[in-house]
Amino acid sequence: MILAIANQKGGVGKTTTAINLAAALAAKGLKTLLVDLDPQANSSMTFIEIHDLERTVYDVMAEPDTGIKEVVRPVDGTENLFIAPSSIALAKIEAKLLGELDSYYRLKDSIKNIRNKYDYILIDTPPTLGIITVNALVASTHVLIPIQSSYFALEGTDDLLETIDKVKLRANPRLQILGALLTLYDKRTLLSRDVRKQVGKVFGKKLFDTVISKSVRLEESPAHRESIFSFAPRSSGAFEYYKLSEEILSRV
Ligand SMILES: Nc1ncnc2c1ncn2[C@@H]1O[C@H](COP(=O)(O)OP(=O)(O)O)[C@@H](O)[C@H]1O
Ligand SMILES: [Mg+2]
Repeated sequence: MILAIANQKGGVGKTTTAINLAAALAAKGLKTLLVDLDPQANSSMTFIEIHDLERTVYDVMAEPDTGIKEVVRPVDGTENLFIAPSSIALAKIEAKLLGELDSYYRLKDSIKNIRNKYDYILIDTPPTLGIITVNALVASTHVLIPIQSSYFALEGTDDLLETIDKVKLRANPRLQILGALLTLYDKRTLLSRDVRKQVGKVFGKKLFDTVISKSVRLEESPAHRESIFSFAPRSSGAFEYYKLSEEILSRV
């Protein structure tokens, strides 16, 4: 499975989900590659030292001759987990690819030769619906949509679903929505429960039963350069992301 984690809103839990879902799958013995497509490189920083990298996903997308294999690194201390790191240079890629005929296919082409080497490839995306996110959708078999349990939770979802439909129309007809995931959930509030109902109306059975609660531990773990499973294995976040991985495995 190649799974894009996408929502053009920032701060909805894309990166947190990418990091911890990747770690959960790897812990199950599934060989997992996390491709970081966000110029902010937060997923990359959580798992490796990014300052001494010569090449990153930017080079892979900028130069079609650079295979993604050349930038993939194992994550020290975590078996089965690999990362294709991002860098701030990726912020320039949209301008660079403008007018290139294959601009939406760069990622897909670059992972063609390695996709069978991994059980799961997860792609963390930036908070835009531009060329980078479309590259992720074109390269993927599935998409997971994190949705923050807040008042404007569903705002912007129409645009995302429209973009997914456009990608399906030509570039990637087999793309499927794997599910929508409620994040930053606070079960004590009426608002959270209300948002759950609303999102359920839009996504139906595609809404994951698992919800990710608001948790200080989840917020802290990237600063310690750890997934939630090594940082706070008994926390609600560890339990919930593990549960999400089980739910995903049962859906495919
Ligand atoms: N379940 C959660 N509980 C508490 N804080 C969270 C949770 N999920 C994400 N965060 C925090 O919210 C902020 C945005 O999350 P992030 O995963 O980076 O979102 P995105 O990648 O969509 O921009 C980060 O500071 C992150 O640590
Ligand atoms: Mg992010």
